[in-house]
Amino acid sequence: MGNNEKRNTFKGSLGFVLAAAGSAVGLGNIWRFPYLATKDGGGMFLAVYLILALTFGFTLLMAETAVGRKTKQSPLTAYGALNKKWRHLGILACIIPAMILPYYCAIGGWVLKYLLGYVTLNGGAAAQDGYFNTFISGTAEPIVMTLIFLAAVIFVVIRGVNKGIESFSKILMPILLVLVIVIAVFSITLDHTDNGVTRTGMEGLAIYLIPDFSGFTLEKFMTVLIDAMGQLFFSLSVAMGIMITYGSYVRDDANLNSSVNQIEIFDTAVAFLAGVMVIPAVYVFSGKEGMSASGPGLMFVSLPKVFDKMGTVGEIIGALFFAMVFFAALTSAISIMEAVVSSLMDKFGFGRTKSAVIVSAVTAVLAVIVCLGYNALYFEVTLPNGSTAQILDIMDYLSNNILMPIVAIGTCILIGWAVKPETVIDEVEKTGTKMGRKGLFTVMIKFLAPVMLIVLLLRSLGVF
Ligand code: PHE
Repeated sequence: MGNNEKRNTFKGSLGFVLAAAGSAVGLGNIWRFPYLATKDGGGMFLAVYLILALTFGFTLLMAETAVGRKTKQSPLTAYGALNKKWRHLGILACIIPAMILPYYCAIGGWVLKYLLGYVTLNGGAAAQDGYFNTFISGTAEPIVMTLIFLAAVIFVVIRGVNKGIESFSKILMPILLVLVIVIAVFSITLDHTDNGVTRTGMEGLAIYLIPDFSGFTLEKFMTVLIDAMGQLFFSLSVAMGIMITYGSYVRDDANLNSSVNQIEIFDTAVAFLAGVMVIPAVYVFSGKEGMSASGPGLMFVSLPKVFDKMGTVGEIIGALFFAMVFFAALTSAISIMEAVVSSLMDKFGFGRTKSAVIVSAVTAVLAVIVCLGYNALYFEVTLPNGSTAQILDIMDYLSNNILMPIVAIGTCILIGWAVKPETVIDEVEKTGTKMGRKGLFTVMIKFLAPVMLIVLLLRSLGVF
């Protein structure tokens, strides 16, 4: 059971902030945020997202990190430690990362394949039609890449909280930030002439930043709101036990209030910069029509074509870009595995290595199944939200669209009503610092956040 005295802690606040930012900054920031921003009227989406980050996002992030530090437990046991009747929520919160890890590693494997392609100056091949589909539907290669990615994650997690997670985050996150800024600046300086029409990066930037109110209706505003909320929720890595786990490693004398603010700023800044990086580049080379892709289609199909049109410099930018994505995916995957590994340690008293080996073995099997979902195990189903899915998409849909909102709703009710918001406020203020936005936090966690989350869940279920 929980061995509190021996529990590792992050050495400093910076380590915690960078580790948590490492979890938060992931594929969602890079391949989904820019897409949603262009789809939902540029500046308008940005404004809505920012307001939600400061209210809704802040509330969930604060609640989870405080629960972690207060209980000194990982998700599997933390909810029960707060209130016995709620221990089942912990099981659910722990199933989510266990379910996400295999397919996150599969995508990590794809990123690795592209990174290796660009580093060996073979990026041009990735611009060919059909390259991506041929690769993921192959037999051995996607599996090998996925398992290498998983091995890197295991390596860091086995090294532990300080020597693994904290040290790696302290190296990778600053590099990631520099890469994002360099590519973003490069992107706005681009221009290209196609059939006598010249498009510039600055014009692309304007599309991103200036709110587009054309055809604005209440319904459209609701879509923007729900898109921004769903994105924010996934982007901050809340509702899946990760922030509880990382919170449980925060020292009792650390200032949670400022750390949580810094994590939010880091995550939002990288999401914003991802837009500056992706939108002008895609616009310059593919025009407005080229901007409709998101997810794997954007990252593995559209962007390689953009890099190809840049000529030689595109090979270098492509290599830097995929290195950046690789770091983002790696630090996120580390946090996902840590939530499960740490849960088994707390619940069953396993050592770190034993726990990591068990989690890795199960993940490896599931990850291979995910990869085979594009090969021997290929099938198609239509999800309630209307999209066509393979194994990866089904796992993604179940975890993100169904289980995560349920866990978040449960967390709000547990904290807002069962143990009361003061539990979190007292935890934050025990170091003598005042918690900011206390009133807002209370109203959010009791009333607004659960209602917003229920709307999000119903939307995911295809109810409206
Ligand atoms: N927050 C990460 C992103 O924005 C994704 C993630 C989801 C990471 C779940 C960990 C767990 O991409």
